Amino acid sequence: MGQKRLLVAGNWKMNGLRADAELMAEGLASRCHAMGNVAVDIALFPPSTLLDYMARALDDTPVVVGGQDCHRAEKGAFTGDLSAWMLRDVGASYVLLGHSERRAGHAESSAQVKDKAQAAQAAGLVAIICVGENSSERDRGETLAVVGRQVQESLPAGATHANTIIAYEPVWAIGSGQVPSTEEIANVHGEIRRLLVKATGDDSGAIRILYGGSVKPSNAAEILGLGDVDGALVGGASLILDDFWAIVTAAVR
Ligand code: PGA
Repeated sequence: MGQKRLLVAGNWKMNGLRADAELMAEGLASRCHAMGNVAVDIALFPPSTLLDYMARALDDTPVVVGGQDCHRAEKGAFTGDLSAWMLRDVGASYVLLGHSERRAGHAESSAQVKDKAQAAQAAGLVAIICVGENSSERDRGETLAVVGRQVQESLPAGATHANTIIAYEPVWAIGSGQVPSTEEIANVHGEIRRLLVKATGDDSGAIRILYGGSVKPSNAAEILGLGDVDGALVGGASLILDDFWAIVTAAVR
């Protein structure tokens, strides 16, 4: 387990103009080049307006890009939406699905997330399915039940380590500077691992499980050192080159 390859994913949310993308792409390219053998997977999730640009700008680097959401259909009369095939067409290899800001702000259910994950799979994208309890669910001691239900209801048929990743993101930890204890993270990741093994019948535990929610340079090494943590989903800190790179460096194995 000690030598597993980790994934650091940077979720820009609704942030970033062309100039920011240029700076980040140039900075990441030169740092990857200086590092030589980049023994960690790196993915960036810029807003869709920057996806095509960033995919091209990072073309010669190990850094790949993904979309922040997709529609369940391939195409059609869905004003304002983007399909998994469109993301793929401009160079995405990943898509984030069911982020809590979409579950809460756009009333996305786990059933919808599952449909989107199915579309991502069909389009050849790796889906990062986000799950996590909110603060009142946590206070009521429902964390494992809520997260377990979201995993079971969001996981598409045919999910494997090659097309699916789970990100555990406690809603109360996102953008708040608060982070669960390492025992809590280990506990939830262990439960997700158990459910994934049960659901997929794959006892190798190969589907990656990321932690997300206030991951910073100061706590990345400790969180990424946990046995069932296979990487990090980083929001705010992914907008700052030095911070994002410090987290990437902490994930090198
Ligand atoms: P944060 O966001 O790192 O700013 O807490 C994480 C996320 O929402 O993916």
